[in-house]
Amino acid sequence: MRRVLDVFLGETARQVGTLRFEAQGARQSAGFEYHPDWLAAADRFALEPGLPLVSGMQFHQQARDGSLFHGAIADTEPDGWGRKVILRDYAKQRQRAREEGAAIEPHALNHLDFLLAVDDTSRVGALRFRDENGIFQRTPEPDRRTAPPLIELSLLLNASRAVELHTETAADLAYLRGRGTPLGGLRPKCTVIDKDGRLSIGKFPSVQDDRPVTKGEVLALLLAKESGINAAEARLVDSDGSPVALIRRFDRPDDGGRLMYISAATMLGVDTSDGTEHSYTEIVDALRQHGSQPQTDIEELWRRIAFSILITNVDDHLHNHGFLHTQLGQWTLAPAFDVNPFPERVRELKTWISEDTGPEASIEALMSVAPYFRIDRDAAIRILTEVERATNRWRQVGHSFGMSNRELDQFFDAFEHRERQIASALING
Ligand SMILES: Nc1ncnc2c1ncn2[C@@H]1O[C@H](COP(=O)(O)OP(=O)(O)OP(=O)(O)O)[C@@H](O)[C@H]1O
Ligand SMILES: [Mg+2]
Repeated sequence: MRRVLDVFLGETARQVGTLRFEAQGARQSAGFEYHPDWLAAADRFALEPGLPLVSGMQFHQQARDGSLFHGAIADTEPDGWGRKVILRDYAKQRQRAREEGAAIEPHALNHLDFLLAVDDTSRVGALRFRDENGIFQRTPEPDRRTAPPLIELSLLLNASRAVELHTETAADLAYLRGRGTPLGGLRPKCTVIDKDGRLSIGKFPSVQDDRPVTKGEVLALLLAKESGINAAEARLVDSDGSPVALIRRFDRPDDGGRLMYISAATMLGVDTSDGTEHSYTEIVDALRQHGSQPQTDIEELWRRIAFSILITNVDDHLHNHGFLHTQLGQWTLAPAFDVNPFPERVRELKTWISEDTGPEASIEALMSVAPYFRIDRDAAIRILTEVERATNRWRQVGHSFGMSNRELDQFFDAFEHRERQIASALING
């Protein structure tokens, strides 16, 4: 099987290239080729450092368990949760066909099926894929809205919960189709339109949660803002008694359009599935090379690490950091997202501070890299002071959106620990 899709960019849909996909039995391959018009355009840019602006097909070497596609394309693929919904939906459709006596071709979903199962309107970033029939993938059935309004949150939540509990019906899956799938990540989530018409993500409590995780995420995002971090807008909404974290999509700006997004993994050209360790100093290097405001973003990054240490946000892997394209191949740090206090986890960062410091989430390690970030000691102490003062208010901020003392107590160890004391001593010393 061979498929050729046109790759477009943004709401106005400018063609940037074509994606070629081939499958022969279990063997699959993919390549991307820039369109000559894009290569000649004054405002052209490389979709990622690993896809230089040259003509001809560029093939992607798939790492074991990695994506078949180049990073910029793979960053728009569903994973974890999205794949679960797609697989269940597929199995259910086949089951129904079988029951109706239809002949079922043996066919497993391939990499392209997953990539194209995402609703075009809510696909992360600015890339869009148009099939051989001129249809943007995925375009929902004619009688169906794409992203549902906030008022349908409880339907989305119930359908998602049913998937988690393995009790979902064909109707649940049909309802989630395209909507439950647009984003990467493991946790149950959905696309939804907020009251003001803005595209948002609803992150749901999981049946596996043993603490109020969605409240913890809203708390972390609010504290990040108070710490001077450019963080995604978040609020908590109640859906029939379930707390849902509603997070505004930062790749859909106020004035419309779509912003090109790539993960930090794509920026660094690394496949995180191979288990090799990477560090923040590599992101600093990438910002120096590709950043539109490198020193501002490098300081912002240092601030985010300080924040992660102080709230024990230790799930800081390279898909939980990203970049937005500004112009002509220059990129800026995307707002912070997926930050969470993890009270029970070992205090080790997924992204090391530097190769020398290793995974340890410590203020000492952070201070040791300040010169590499070109942050002098006074500036470092100033940033640390701002972050420490803000995170110190974690209980008040939690109360401000209705968290109870009992709920907050479950996060205690994430906020009150030795590194907090070390930070205060440094600030006051
Ligand atoms: N506010 C946002 N605007 C645009 N895209 C976002 C936003 N928040 C998250 N994303 C995209 O959606 C993906 C999944 O979101 P998120 O990381 O919050 O989910 P998760 O399930 O908690 O992930 P993980 O598997 O890391 O725990 C991100 O990797 C990013 O590409
Ligand atoms: Mg994530």
